[in-house]
Amino acid sequence: MKLGACYYPEHWPEDMWADDARRMADAGLSRVRIGEFAWSRIEPEPGVFDWGWLDRAINTLHTAGLEIILGTPTATPPKWLADQMPDMFAVDVHGRSRGFGSRRHYCFSHLGYRAEAARITRAVAQRYGNHPAIVMWQTDNEYGCHDTTISYSDAARDAFRLWLAQRYGDIGSLNTAWGNVFWSMEYRGFDQIELPNLTVTEANPAHWLAFRRFSSDRVISFDKAQIDILRELSPNRDVMHNAMGFVTDYDHHDLGQQLDVVMWDSYPLGFLEMFPFSDADKAAYVRQGHPDIAAFHHDLYRGCAADGRWGVIEQQPGPVNWARHNPAPLPGMVRLWTLEAMAHGAELVSYFRWRQAPFAQEQMHAGLLRPDSQAAPGLDEAIQAASDIADLGEAGRPIKEVALIFSYDAEWITQTQPQGEGLSALWAAFSTYTALREIGLNVDIISPSAELSGYAMAVVPCLPAIPDELVSALKAFDGPVIIGPRSGSKTDELSIPAGLAPGKLKALFPATVTRSESLRPGTHHAGDGWSATRWLDHLETEAEAELVAEDGMVACWKSANVRYCAAWPEGALIAEIARRAATEAGLEPVTLPTGVRVRKTDIYIFAFNYGNETQQVTLRGTERLGSSALSPAGVAVFEAS
Ligand code: GAL
Repeated sequence: MKLGACYYPEHWPEDMWADDARRMADAGLSRVRIGEFAWSRIEPEPGVFDWGWLDRAINTLHTAGLEIILGTPTATPPKWLADQMPDMFAVDVHGRSRGFGSRRHYCFSHLGYRAEAARITRAVAQRYGNHPAIVMWQTDNEYGCHDTTISYSDAARDAFRLWLAQRYGDIGSLNTAWGNVFWSMEYRGFDQIELPNLTVTEANPAHWLAFRRFSSDRVISFDKAQIDILRELSPNRDVMHNAMGFVTDYDHHDLGQQLDVVMWDSYPLGFLEMFPFSDADKAAYVRQGHPDIAAFHHDLYRGCAADGRWGVIEQQPGPVNWARHNPAPLPGMVRLWTLEAMAHGAELVSYFRWRQAPFAQEQMHAGLLRPDSQAAPGLDEAIQAASDIADLGEAGRPIKEVALIFSYDAEWITQTQPQGEGLSALWAAFSTYTALREIGLNVDIISPSAELSGYAMAVVPCLPAIPDELVSALKAFDGPVIIGPRSGSKTDELSIPAGLAPGKLKALFPATVTRSESLRPGTHHAGDGWSATRWLDHLETEAEAELVAEDGMVACWKSANVRYCAAWPEGALIAEIARRAATEAGLEPVTLPTGVRVRKTDIYIFAFNYGNETQQVTLRGTERLGSSALSPAGVAVFEAS
């Protein structure tokens, strides 16, 4: 695995570049990402390019032996461009145009902006496509960041109508598919259809779902236009994009299929603070991040990548500036995060950013260097990680154990029709993932169309619309299967299937969900060491009632190799179900100490301590790095025996 840094030569006097490059190389970094926000310096006036500074920056970095990942600058169109076409801004859900003065101020559907994005991409690729230092391209930056996937602009509306006409063919089919007879919502032509915002009460969920799918497709086609140009003008270089944490606004499986590498931006402390973790977790892991935040995304994005190639292009090196509170990582965490990415098979971890900027929006965001160029604490940890990586060599091939099936479409369906606060497919996937990791298992998060062969066990935490290919794959799968609540409960058009839930899954689990309900926090059905909370599916079935609460509520049903978890898959309930299934699968579940996680490859077992106490880990294998007495933020690597 390689290490790198994100660097902004345009932020620093030119006479600092050579020293920066030398210090990066001395620290053990071999890649540097540049350029993704530099449009106003590359093309200061319409059609007038200033390549000189970027030529010199690239050559300086190259001379120091660094490989360059060059970004297309389309996340930051300059002011002159915004002034040329003021309708290029995205429009928010209230119908207000967004404005200039930060970034990502464009609408994915604006045809003029799409042409401009292609033009600047072509210009940069023509200039540097064959430069020997350029090894990889990054398209744009963080699609969807700052809520920018969805736009309610006229351009989006026009494109949506075309998309609908293509999908449904005639307006009658759309009306039937959406159930528009309800509330007299029937349309007489595609040109009558508006976007689903600004309705009096909720719009038809099928309308929303179609708009979410359309909006995702706009991102994918915007990206594809850049990829085509880069592949034409810069052959034999990889193209990647940087995804984010817990952001599901576009279909990352679709995006990953057209990229060479899927990268993501890992800010565990910011994510802990900003996403719905319990207060107890926020307190326990304030300087570490919840132990599954980084790993969940490693395993998710590896599953999005066409060939499984992935990495971390932005790694938190110290306090960030954008969360509600911005603590510093516990000493050792920057190294731990780096080595955990290695354990999960990353090809690169690159720190964001090389030096903290003294100006503008992110001046309070740490870098590996302080603004005065002295080393910040993250730098020593990066240097230590570089030496650990050199010592370990290859991470080894991952051991396949559990396939966890997740889809972006499932997340859009549950967001569109939550039926209970916080009950979304993503968070069902996350809590299930946690349960599996707490018993020491390797988890791959895969799409419903991915191969199940080679896995010992398969888990579908929450997948309302089930593709036919998944039904066939699960039927052919002979290991234990866990199906979570709401799975199979919707058609592809977000209606209730004839025959009721679990719809197509009846082919492997004979049951009918006769009623579903969501529960407010504090309401639960207590079982033996677990409780059924938040969501309950009531089943009519011949299956065996495996976990029954004291009051008779069945939380888990079992029929042959398939279990149906009838309550929300979290906490002790999903842990108990996971342990039973894993034992049947021959996976030998363990009980890891609080905060400890492991990852197994064919040559190593990695162990990481996210907790606040030193923990003794007993794993099969001989100590290779660190020791089995794992201090907080400690990493140990064992040679697998
Ligand atoms: C990312 C983004 C970077 C920087 C960073 C700060 O979301 O890609 O440009 O803003 O966050 O943490």
